[in-house]
Amino acid sequence: MFLPTLTSTLLLLLLSTTAPPTLAASCTRADLLATAANFVAAVSAGNVSAAFPAASYRENNKASSLKSAAVFSAPLKIDLSRSTADTVACASYTLIISSSGSKPYVLATQLRHADGDAATTTLVDTIAATTGSLFFNAPKTLGYIRNESWAEIAEAARPPRDLLKKVGDAYLDMWTDKNAADSIPWGTDCERVEGSQYTRPCGGSLPRGGSAKNNGDRRYVIDEVVGSVDVLCSFDALGSLPDSHEIRVEGGKVKYVHTVTV
Ligand SMILES: *[C@@H]1O[C@H](CO)[C@@H](O)[C@H](O)[C@H]1NC(C)=O
Ligand SMILES: *[C@@H]1O[C@H](CO)[C@@H](O)[C@H](O)[C@H]1NC(C)=O
Repeated sequence: MFLPTLTSTLLLLLLSTTAPPTLAASCTRADLLATAANFVAAVSAGNVSAAFPAASYRENNKASSLKSAAVFSAPLKIDLSRSTADTVACASYTLIISSSGSKPYVLATQLRHADGDAATTTLVDTIAATTGSLFFNAPKTLGYIRNESWAEIAEAARPPRDLLKKVGDAYLDMWTDKNAADSIPWGTDCERVEGSQYTRPCGGSLPRGGSAKNNGDRRYVIDEVVGSVDVLCSFDALGSLPDSHEIRVEGGKVKYVHTVTV
């Protein structure tokens, strides 16, 4: 009786002190989208700071703290979320629309991770638009964005990373560079949703220079698989507004443009 018990106790001890095999850190598209999904779940539950203990936080281009962030400290009803992944930068972008809760939000968030490890989030970088923000009307925004297709693009037709970066930059350069607008491959059926303001086709009546200050502090998430670039920036051309511009390119041409601006 005694001996087998002792043996099994020893065996248990041995088993429990043997370290589990460590999973190699990686930053695949699937890894990035899994962490982005965890983020969406934490936003919904209102416990982002507990779920991302190693992350610092930036809100509307200012250093802040996840613990004190009102938007992430209470459960948020999420009506729509969509994420894209950048395996080169090991970062992701998530759009969240909360239109039916007590305080509506449209949130543009980039997650940054430790080098090559999508499971370790080092920065949550959010542009948080709410009542009073530029063209803010979350139900209206939801209505437009819900109708869009963000299906993966067939491998042979994916826009290359450098084209996506160029389109994102050219868009933000339109206010300071008179030639930028004409360098962008506008699709004939392109839709622009700026806050809740809708323009289709989106390539008409564009800015052609005129501002003295270039839009700065650009942070990119580029996803060839869905043909997208998201740039968080300080929209300095119009007065240092915290801003997100997301563009989808289909068949080599701009299909969607979204802005979230505070
Ligand atoms: C966040 O809240 C959800 C729902 O209550 C819970 O399932 C989850 O374990 C919590 N996560 C953390 C890290 O606290
Ligand atoms: C979304 O699509 C549906 C079905 O095609 C259409 O009836 C509706 O008007 C569209 N909504 C918007 C806001 O464009």
